[in-house]
Amino acid sequence: MTARKLRKGIFITFEGPEGCGKSTQSRLLYDYLRERSYDCVYTREPGGTLLGDHIRHILLHANEIDITDLAELFLFEANRSQVVKEVIRPNILKKRIVVCDRFGDATVAYQGYGGRLPIKVIKKLNYLATGGLKPDLTIILDVDTPTGLKRARRKGVDRMEKKTIAYHRRVRTVI
Ligand SMILES: Nc1ncnc2c1ncn2[C@@H]1O[C@H](COP(=O)(O)OP(=O)(O)O)[C@@H](O)[C@H]1O
Ligand SMILES: [Mg+2]
Repeated sequence: MTARKLRKGIFITFEGPEGCGKSTQSRLLYDYLRERSYDCVYTREPGGTLLGDHIRHILLHANEIDITDLAELFLFEANRSQVVKEVIRPNILKKRIVVCDRFGDATVAYQGYGGRLPIKVIKKLNYLATGGLKPDLTIILDVDTPTGLKRARRKGVDRMEKKTIAYHRRVRTVI
């Protein structure tokens, strides 16, 4: 079947705390749209580009690397700048639906509310990294912190998931 044509691209993001189902539901939405012949692209943060895959590894799995709170923020923003330029913006311009697992709101919630870095600075960096690009729709999922962490930790624990339960409770206050 030929792809359905949209008048303009659509950018959809999934946000929420650890284990709330972002990866599950964003994949389901992408598969659902594909089955209905919509021209769509799936991406995620951190990741989505070659640089992003390296940054993802450093941020989540390189336990031997010490990362300051600010360095962590800049790595997320570096990733964002690359995925917007390489994947998200070009595909929106091609009138596709872009589904993204996490985006700028996650940095406000995690590095801002969780890590207590200044929200104003994070919003400015988000603006710089995205060139002002905002999602057309953000789907926010929620789960209580202990349940979410238990679910997320079933498949092994990454560096962000290792942060304290108090950190993850602060992340969730933004919802
Ligand atoms: N509604 C749900 N009820 C119970 N378990 C779920 C539900 N949605 C997802 N899970 C499971 O919880 C874990 C985390 O889901 P995932 O989609 O990876 O969450 P996130 O990407 O938000 O961290 C996975 O093992 C997944 O299979
Ligand atoms: Mg996930």
